[in-house]
Amino acid sequence: MGVQPARAASTTGTPAAGHGGHAGAPLRRVTPRDLRIGTAVAGGGHHLEQDYPDPFTYDKPYRRVLAREFDSASPENQMKWEFIHPERNRYNFGPADAIVRFARQHGQVVRGHTLLWHSQNPAWLAEGQFSKAELRAILKQHIVTVVGRYRGQIHQWDVANEIFNENGEYRQENIWIRELGPGIVADAFRWAHQADPRAQLFLNDYGVEWPGAKVDAYEALARQLLADRVPLHGFASQAHLSMRYGAPDQLRSVLQRFDDLGLHTAITELDVRMDLPEGGVPTAEQLTTQAQYYKTVLDACLAVDDCNSFTLWGFTDKYSWVPVFFPTEGAATVMGDDFTPKPAYHTVRQTLAEARRNGR
Ligand code: G3I
Repeated sequence: MGVQPARAASTTGTPAAGHGGHAGAPLRRVTPRDLRIGTAVAGGGHHLEQDYPDPFTYDKPYRRVLAREFDSASPENQMKWEFIHPERNRYNFGPADAIVRFARQHGQVVRGHTLLWHSQNPAWLAEGQFSKAELRAILKQHIVTVVGRYRGQIHQWDVANEIFNENGEYRQENIWIRELGPGIVADAFRWAHQADPRAQLFLNDYGVEWPGAKVDAYEALARQLLADRVPLHGFASQAHLSMRYGAPDQLRSVLQRFDDLGLHTAITELDVRMDLPEGGVPTAEQLTTQAQYYKTVLDACLAVDDCNSFTLWGFTDKYSWVPVFFPTEGAATVMGDDFTPKPAYHTVRQTLAEARRNGR
């Protein structure tokens, strides 16, 4: 069942060399040394509804491109509650372990995603009847267990994900915040830090690419957490962008506000979706515009001192979440279905290489 991802971009971009065998240095080789270039590692979530096997586990060319191009890996779904903690007294570490092992073998760091979120929680949790004390104990045990298992092997954890609405209010769909109050966010950071003192602990959200109430809420929260000596280390913009809404030309100033607080910043889930013409193949003009969006985001990160991680939410259109959630949109990643690089890939590589040459 499910919507078929648009098979769009395999006929676009530079000539295909098959399975990503294009000429030129891979992204990770041209990235400035103080920046990680990452991708989501496709698996779980919407992939379960598609007519292909789990990408990370079964697609060998995919794994080759993943290893060759990136030095940071973010489990797309495999560390989320419903996957890693499917029953109250059972954890399912296998899929996450496999990613952490792969990353170690290929000299990659891992971004852990995610510990406190309103979405993709298992039914036993979302529909369970628990007292406040029980819920608090459940969250603490989960964080201590999951973060502890990968202690020393995670570069950054998205501790709190998408906790504010667009108007800057705490999301009441978030079971932890609704039941335990916003103070639970600080506790989640403290527990994660105890479990892995070396991991950088992040706030992560979408819709923070422009200034506004949501960004203001994050800045106020970050200031409060830092004043309270809570181990908060970073603020991240997911950067799920649509060409309907314009390029995020104020992202640099948003990141700078958090850099000014002494925090790391990061781009964690970048993709740029577009309305696909009939036939599903983007025009050359669309691909050029898309490349500009990617560049705007990368330039913002490069311009901010402590923006230390730049992650794409997948690198091939074949496995992108976008056409599943937005049926008329797609082609959001930097490579076509067969890993043929699109203009966005070349622009990202060139921008990274220039920054490295200029000593970023
Ligand atoms: O929960 C239902 C389940 O009840 C149903 O039986 C099953 C089959 O239809 O679908 C399940 O929902 C799926 C969900 O993952 C949980 O596994 C959705 O259909 C599926 O589309 C969803 O996809 C993931 C999505 O997060 C969920 O929000 C995507 O794979 C994943 O790429 C996406 O990633 C998120 C980041 O974690 C956070 N930022 C936004 C980003 C894009 O949504």
